[in-house]
Amino acid sequence: MKKVLITGGAGFIGSHVVRLFVNQYQDYLIYNLDALTYAGNLENLTDVENKSNYKFIKGDITDGDFINDLFSDIQFDAVIHLAAESHVDRSISDPLSFINTNIIGTVNLLNAAKSVWEGNWSDRLFYHVSTDEVYGSLGDTGFFVESTSYDPKSPYSASKASSDHLVRAYGNTYGLPYVISNCSNNYGPNQFPEKLIPLCINNIKNNKPLPIYGKGENIRDWLYVKDHATAIDNVFHKGENGETYNIGGHNEWTNIDLVRLLCDVMDEALEQEIGTSQKLITFVKDRAGHDLRYAIDASKIDKELSWKPSLTFEEGIKKTVKWYLDNESWLDHVTSGKYQQYYQSQYEER
Ligand code: NAD
Ligand code: TYD
Repeated sequence: MKKVLITGGAGFIGSHVVRLFVNQYQDYLIYNLDALTYAGNLENLTDVENKSNYKFIKGDITDGDFINDLFSDIQFDAVIHLAAESHVDRSISDPLSFINTNIIGTVNLLNAAKSVWEGNWSDRLFYHVSTDEVYGSLGDTGFFVESTSYDPKSPYSASKASSDHLVRAYGNTYGLPYVISNCSNNYGPNQFPEKLIPLCINNIKNNKPLPIYGKGENIRDWLYVKDHATAIDNVFHKGENGETYNIGGHNEWTNIDLVRLLCDVMDEALEQEIGTSQKLITFVKDRAGHDLRYAIDASKIDKELSWKPSLTFEEGIKKTVKWYLDNESWLDHVTSGKYQQYYQSQYEER
C-alpha cells in the first residue's frame, strides 16, 4: 500500500484533504501527523478515525529528531504538507512561531524525505500546500499567475514564501520530486473562528460586534474548502514534478460586501429580520501592513489538470452557515480556554 503522510490533517483544510484521501483511495495508507495546536482538532475527523487505512500520529514538525525517526520507521512514499501556523494576525504578534513551524518545520520534513528517498526518487513526491499571499498585494487590477514574483508582506506570507523557496531549492539541488500549489482564501466547515468568515458567524450567534479592519475595502478571492481539497487531489495525482499550480475561486469580494452578505444569510438562517446582523458591523483599527487585494488566475490548473471550483459563493456560504449552526458543540469546544483569552486581548487592543 502506498504510504501517504499528510501533515496538519487535524486542521481546517487538512481535515478535508484527509477525509477525501481516506475515502477515495482505499489502497493508500493515510498517516495524519499533527501537533494539535489550538487550530488542530480531532473532532474534525471522527467519521474517518476508525477506518483501516487511516492512522493519526501526534507530533511536532519542528522536532527534527522525531521527524527523522518517523520517516525511517514508516518510509512514507509521499508527503502532502499542510501543517503550518496560518493566521496573519497571529504572525504580527508572534512571528517567531511562524518561522519555527513554517520554515524550520518544512526543512525538517524535506531533510527526512531526502534522507529516506535519496537514490530512489521514482514514485516519490513532496507536495507543499501554500498560499497566494506569497505574491504580495495587488492593486485594483491584475491577477497572480504562477510566474508572478514573490513579494510577501506579512510575517505569515514571508514564512510561507520561504518554505516554498526551500522546497524548490531541494528539488533543484538534490533532485527531490515536488509540486507546490498556491491557493486563495478558503472558507467552509471546520475553520477556526479567528478567520473572517467563521469569526463573523460566531459573533453574530453571540450578538457580538463584527470587527471590520480599516474601511473594509480589502479584497480576497474566496474558495470553498472542499473545492480546494479536490484541487489538491488533482495536483497530487496529475501535477508535473517541479511545477506550481495556482488555485482560486474566481470569486473576489471586498470584506465589507462579504460580511454584509454573510449577515443576510445568517438573518435568514436564524429567522430574524434581514438587517439585524448588519447592525453589529463595527469598523476597527486596520491590520498592520494589510494587503489590499489578492486575486488568482487559476487557468493553468483548469487547462492542465481539468480542475474548476464546483460551488458558487452563495451556495458555499449557505452551506457554511448551516454547518456552523448545526455544530454548536464544535464551536463551543474550540472557542473555550486559550483561544478565548487570545481573542479577548486582541479585540480589546483594537
Ligand atoms: P489551520 O491553522 O486550520 O491548521 C493547521 C494545522 O497544522 C493544525 O491542525 C495544527 O495543529 C497543525 N500544526 C501547526 N503547527 C504544527 C507543528 N509544529 N507540527 C505539526 N502540526 C502542526 O490551517 P489551514 O487554514 O487548514 O491551512 C493549512 C495549510 O494551507 C497551511 O499550510 C496554509 O498556509 C495553507 N493555506 C491556507 C489557506 C486558508 O485560507 N486557510 C489558503 C491557502 C493556503
Ligand atoms: P483572514 O480571514 O484573517 O484571512 P487573510 O488575512 O489570510 O486574508 O482575513 C480576511 C480578510 O478580512 C483580510 O482582509 C482581513 C479582514 N479581517 C477583518 O476585517 N476583520 C477580522 O476580524 C478578521 C479576522 C479579518
